[in-house]
Amino acid sequence: MPHYQSLGNIPHKRHTQFRKPDGQLYSEQLFSTEGFSNDYSILYHCHPPTQIIHTDEPYSVAPQVAEEKMLKHRSFEGFNIKPAKDFLDSRIPVLVNNDCHIVLAAPQESMTNYFYKNADADEMIFVHEGSGVLHTQYGELSFGYGDYLVIPRGTIYQISFADSNNRLFIVESFSPIRYPKRYMSKYGQLLEHSPFCERDIRAPKDLKTYDEAGDFIIKTKKKGVMYGLHYAHHPFDVVGWDGCCYPFAFSIHDFEPITGRVHQPPPVHQTFEAHNFVVCSFVPRLYDYHPQAIPAPYNHSNIDSDEVLYYVDGDFMSRKNVTRGMITLHPAGIPHGPHPGAVEKSIGKKETQELAVMVDTFHPLMLTKQALEIENPGYTMSWAE
Ligand SMILES: [Fe+2]
Repeated sequence: MPHYQSLGNIPHKRHTQFRKPDGQLYSEQLFSTEGFSNDYSILYHCHPPTQIIHTDEPYSVAPQVAEEKMLKHRSFEGFNIKPAKDFLDSRIPVLVNNDCHIVLAAPQESMTNYFYKNADADEMIFVHEGSGVLHTQYGELSFGYGDYLVIPRGTIYQISFADSNNRLFIVESFSPIRYPKRYMSKYGQLLEHSPFCERDIRAPKDLKTYDEAGDFIIKTKKKGVMYGLHYAHHPFDVVGWDGCCYPFAFSIHDFEPITGRVHQPPPVHQTFEAHNFVVCSFVPRLYDYHPQAIPAPYNHSNIDSDEVLYYVDGDFMSRKNVTRGMITLHPAGIPHGPHPGAVEKSIGKKETQELAVMVDTFHPLMLTKQALEIENPGYTMSWAE
């Protein structure tokens, strides 16, 4: 998150006296996710963000891995994940490795009586269905269909939904989620050939300061364990902040597709990157316009990455029987490509309405118990029909 933002009141100089109307000092907090050597923000609290008054018994929320090693094409019915009232209860990890956890969630209710912090992982929440507001110390982010919410690890948030019909595709990343390096200038501007630019990035707005004393629970996840930490003051007691480390929203509908005369490789769809995985957006676009072009993708041997595709909406010309919310996993080690008939069928087509999110991981993913419960049988052999 390289772009500087400032909201609310901040002193002229960092690390100098900044006082409340009653003469007391505000509490300065430096927030970064990589020590003191990368992007950071500075927040000014009414009260120190350190006042824990008691703690709850921790409990495990670690994914239950059911299949650690495998070499088969897999497919999962994402919308068969059961909705749950509570946001944290609703989150079901399906595919996991040491770099990221891929999680599905269908939360029905807004988070009201606690706050949440993922101390390990940046979160990328893709909103497939539903709308609402992400409340953070930095201000508010309104979200709706097609939004990516990118939340740096350590950010305290509450999420509220407009109604009970919500479907989220979440990636927890154990390293910072960034824009692709090749789209950034030396000093951090998104370059001309990037499929999106600064105008498409929505920073938090409407900073509200809650100067309230009481008992405020921040459910904090660390190393697969959830800790209930009770603080003496409302965590959103910030009067101002500035810097380059903050949650933001980006709509998949603002991703401008890169097309060509012949089939363009998957990196043109890249949207974010992190250590050992990338995120790509497949959006409605014109097909290749060479007179002999084949719009369907070629078979390819993704020998060094597992490919996860999450189908959002539209028609998928290269696969049969695709449903909304479906996930396919094409593991490293065996080639994959269009289903039988899809190549011929694609010839002459002018455009696609497909909308999908892809996550390519450079290390193999493991399948959880809940992933096996929503698996589509028969997918492995579906090319041989
Ligand atoms: Fe692929």
